[in-house]
Amino acid sequence: VIELAAVGTPALVVHGPTLDRNLATMAAARPGSRCRPHVKAHKTTELARRQHAIGHAGFTAATTREVLGLAVVGLGEDLLLANETIDGRRLRAMADCGARVTIAVDSVETIDAAADHGIREVLIDVDVGLPRGGCDPVVAGALADRAGRAGLEVRGVMGYEGHVSLYTDRAQRAAATAAAMEVLHGAHAAVGGDVVSAGATVTYDLNHVATEIQAGSYALMDTAFAPLVPEFAPAMWIESTVISVSPEHAVVDAGLKALGMDHGPPTIDGAQVLIVSDEHITFRPDEAVRVGDRVRVWPAHVDPTVAYHEWMHLTDGEEVLERWPVDLRGW
Ligand SMILES: Cc1ncc(COP(=O)(O)O)c(C=O)c1O
Repeated sequence: VIELAAVGTPALVVHGPTLDRNLATMAAARPGSRCRPHVKAHKTTELARRQHAIGHAGFTAATTREVLGLAVVGLGEDLLLANETIDGRRLRAMADCGARVTIAVDSVETIDAAADHGIREVLIDVDVGLPRGGCDPVVAGALADRAGRAGLEVRGVMGYEGHVSLYTDRAQRAAATAAAMEVLHGAHAAVGGDVVSAGATVTYDLNHVATEIQAGSYALMDTAFAPLVPEFAPAMWIESTVISVSPEHAVVDAGLKALGMDHGPPTIDGAQVLIVSDEHITFRPDEAVRVGDRVRVWPAHVDPTVAYHEWMHLTDGEEVLERWPVDLRGW
């Protein structure tokens, strides 16, 4: 048995029982194929195995690396690259990996690249309001025809309503989700197919159009999204060590090279975070701390935080139950 206290810091730590509760909550609300967990949020095949064991056979990925990594460990029943690529080498690797791989396309270029490099199945990615990938909904049908002529099987549509996470008010978020999904519904009528893939952790119970929800953050959760969906609890923190104490503040050995800051600074219970620099957080604790004390740093954004770490330590109390490689990192 390894004690958490023996793990070098900064370290990525996951509370096993909280993770399992989060997975069970989603699996009850969106069982089986009604949720296609997005692995970009954890980049860890061992965690994907737990999602598979609780009933979700299909996965969403953002990178080729995630697709190939899932395929190689036997989790390739139904993988969706919910992202565009024209990289022929990567497309060919996905086509030949032995898994069922479906790719998002939103242009003639991405359709032709997929067809030229052996991809068999695609979704037409539709812009539903987030200024990122996705075609203009009025051309979705024409792109589907083009994909069919290129020999691709069009399984349906995808449209990620990420912009609605700006609405912390649930009724506003529901209305924005409904508006986005009306667009996707219209595009689906023109495209056809069985799949309407959309959604996120913050819309998993508000999206009534998607046949499958691409939720990612729900498993590990973070301090930015938890207030919007409190049924999912933060399960992941950065374990850090106090390395310096002064009368005014204290310092731990975890900084912005150990956590994603794009959704704001991290939180430390019972303390005020003052400065986050490369390898340090300067904070003001409510009660005195000593050099050597362990401190939990709660990130505001789980996805980029995970991507900084090689290992995920699964714990219950002071015990490390398992040590999982964060093996889907890179591109
Ligand atoms: C294509 C796509 N689908 C779904 C999600 C939802 O992820 P989450 O549940 O972590 O908000 C994301 C996150 O950015 C995404 O890019």
